[in-house]
Amino acid sequence: VRLVKTILFNRGVPATESFAFSEVAAAAGDALRAENPALLQYGPSLGFAPLREWLAAHHGVAVDQVILGNGSLQLLEFLLLAQGRAGDAVVTESPTYDRTLTLMRRHGLRPVGVPLAEDGPDLARLEAAFAAEKPRLAYLIPDFQNPAGATCSSDKRRRIVALAERYDVLLVEDAPYRVLRYRGTEEPSLFSLAPHRTLQMSSFSKLVGPGPRVGYMIGPAKLVAALAKVAEDTYICPANLAHGIAWEWCRSGKLPGQIERLKALYAPRLDACLRALAEHLPEAHATRPEGGFFISVTLADGVTTKAVREVGLRHGVQLADGEAFFPNGGGERFLRLPFCALTPDEIAEGVRRIAVAVREAASARAAV
Ligand SMILES: Cc1ncc(COP(=O)(O)O)c(C=O)c1O
Repeated sequence: VRLVKTILFNRGVPATESFAFSEVAAAAGDALRAENPALLQYGPSLGFAPLREWLAAHHGVAVDQVILGNGSLQLLEFLLLAQGRAGDAVVTESPTYDRTLTLMRRHGLRPVGVPLAEDGPDLARLEAAFAAEKPRLAYLIPDFQNPAGATCSSDKRRRIVALAERYDVLLVEDAPYRVLRYRGTEEPSLFSLAPHRTLQMSSFSKLVGPGPRVGYMIGPAKLVAALAKVAEDTYICPANLAHGIAWEWCRSGKLPGQIERLKALYAPRLDACLRALAEHLPEAHATRPEGGFFISVTLADGVTTKAVREVGLRHGVQLADGEAFFPNGGGERFLRLPFCALTPDEIAEGVRRIAVAVREAASARAAV
């Protein structure tokens, strides 16, 4: 019996070897030795004040524009609670982050997907959705999108902001991958283009690790205050101990070095994945991101992701469902490939196994 270790090509998580244990341990020790009661006490629902101040300075905003949460996703939930009314339309890209769709549906909201191209959402469809649906908000991931690996062009960003102005739509810019750019030049954030109508969410999950659950939103102070009210009524305050450790780590200047280490670790993995796709699956269309965690592949006609997933398991590769990322159907041939948590060798072997599964699924279908 030959034991083949399954390659997990389905999980969009950071690489465990990216975790800066000794730095975090030092920050934890320093934070606790300072005996600041705020670390172990209840506190304001806006979150641990020194970290809010640090983030405000880092992003060039006022402190009352920053709220911390246990991960950024929880703040999105608070936003949907504060702003959403059952039956409301909310615009997303199609595909989009599947957990966001779950949250929206849990609140009775109606996600309306706008097709996403490699340079951002289809603007004619976006305008049509704004005009027809009068959405409460539009949730977009402009940088290194999860799941597609698309990045919105600066021209499209400006036009999205203009449309949001015209139709009075709140923009929710989810930006956890924004600083993980391995090449090319940074595009302006939606928040920088329209600070009065954008909430930008981000977190330390992809930088330090998701375990401490340190996420945040920046936006108009009035909206931030509304989120703080929901937060207070939900959990009193976020996890101050973890947030205090994150602050100690940030203020001792650790963030820039960590970002550089992540880029050095992940850039070769992106390249390995693009190389392997060109070699083993040249007939499939793959996005070519310049950063982030994800490449996506649209399989050639005649084979579905569902079939490839099933066959893939027999060949030792685990893949995510494609359709779950599509709010209103589609995605039958969509494959998300998170490349960061695999080594270049695992990526090459994983893509090779996927290609074997694609051929097998295609010939099984042809034989029917
Ligand atoms: C687009 C996007 N938003 C939010 C999250 C979750 O972030 P957090 O850990 O800050 O809740 C993820 C995690 O994969 C993500 O890809």
